[in-house]
Amino acid sequence: MAAPVARDQELELHIDSLAYGGNGVARLNGFVVFVRRGLPGDTVRARVTKVKRSHAEATAVEVVEPSAKRVEAPCAHYPACGGCRFQDLAYEAQLDAKQEQVREALRRIGGIAEPPVESIVPAEAQFFYRNKLEYSFTATPAGPALGFHKAGRWDEVLEIEKCWLTSDLGNAIRGAVRDWAREERLEAYDQREQTGYLRHLVVREGRNTGQVLVQLVTAAGERFDRDQLVETLRRFPEVRSIHWAVNETPAEVTNLPTTLLWGEDAIEEQLCGLRFRVRPNAFLQTNTAMAERLYGIAGEFAALTGGETVYDLYCGIGTIGLSIASHALTVWGVEVSEESVACALENADLNGISNAAFFAGETADALAELRDRAGDPDVIVVDPPRAGLSNKAVRRLGRLEAPRIVYVSCNPTTLAGNVKELAASWGYTLERVRPVDMFPHTPHVESVSLLVKR
Ligand SMILES: C[S@@+](CC[C@H](N)C(=O)[O-])C[C@H]1O[C@@H](n2cnc3c(N)ncnc32)[C@H](O)[C@@H]1O
Repeated sequence: MAAPVARDQELELHIDSLAYGGNGVARLNGFVVFVRRGLPGDTVRARVTKVKRSHAEATAVEVVEPSAKRVEAPCAHYPACGGCRFQDLAYEAQLDAKQEQVREALRRIGGIAEPPVESIVPAEAQFFYRNKLEYSFTATPAGPALGFHKAGRWDEVLEIEKCWLTSDLGNAIRGAVRDWAREERLEAYDQREQTGYLRHLVVREGRNTGQVLVQLVTAAGERFDRDQLVETLRRFPEVRSIHWAVNETPAEVTNLPTTLLWGEDAIEEQLCGLRFRVRPNAFLQTNTAMAERLYGIAGEFAALTGGETVYDLYCGIGTIGLSIASHALTVWGVEVSEESVACALENADLNGISNAAFFAGETADALAELRDRAGDPDVIVVDPPRAGLSNKAVRRLGRLEAPRIVYVSCNPTTLAGNVKELAASWGYTLERVRPVDMFPHTPHVESVSLLVKR
């Protein structure tokens, strides 16, 4: 049957809900239309941008009748800035939408009729919660400026005066680096033309320690005065570590080898009462307060009694494993980034934890050797990136036959696919799922799930 809509057609649509990823969901006689910038409860006029057999995509061009759940967005850059998508949706409605997305993914993709989804944990702070921001440089008539990509644009950057996701300190550091770049008459990099010099600024702030790490990313060559940059940043006593990285490729990445310009090579953050050293390229959850809540739930689901062998897979700098190590017999972490593993080992020492070991490697490839060393796991914690567990990783995980798997997920759709496979082929039952809102005003939703071997 042909789709009931055509490209470029304008339609009046009522938005029922928010799909994972952040688009509104509307139905036209049962045919699903995903509407960018449509919020639940809105009636919008939307232009169709893409038509497929099963659904269409559209962008709201006018809000005909706003949803009762709409609120005033506080940020002056909203909605042009691509950083936040839902500042104008009441926080309660954001939470409802995210909780429903987790449930819906487990129903639709996971094939579970009644997923055991518990109520979502709201964020402790709705604004200023991020401990790491990555800004792009852009050219303006006044000189280089720093900001975020405009919503939906890879090639255009919006200058930011005040970001509502970082702290006053984070905003002040960004402003100081912009002023430095202008005084030094440096040139911003142009992503489209691939010309210019200054590319990114990464500011990472240990929220519980006050320590700040700053990383400048440039195109090839040393075209700035190191001392001037260091002097600018040292005006902030919180800045402990200043790095520089060169990106010679067109790809917009910041995860690069760094040169230490000044200070310590790492900063410290505190989580769950432990100290963690964080290097520029090491993974750290970007909402410190909610990471502590997330790890608390993972610990609760692991239900350790002191005698367990625990695998902490995709362990980053060891945050989950180390935070539960005092309740386990041994903890064994695996992580692909060597920089993160170096931090994890250092962090075990820093906290005097002697029953945790960490290894660099791909999870799927490392499991056989890990079992030889560590013995059978009683509990496996997995915390993969958005792509979830690969088929190979699921298979090898399944073969370990751990009685409990605690799955920390940042993508309910890949969680749901992995849960389906763990149930169908490896005899696991999904017992609990607790969504956690780590990132208000964005489409992201985290969750912790407990799978028990039947
Ligand atoms: C979502 S982070 C979680 C890190 C840590 N559990 C935490 O809470 O901070 C995912 C981690 O998996 C690592 N990773 C990605 N692919 C991997 C793989 N195939 N094998 C092992 N680790 C991987 C990444 O480097 C990253 O540190």
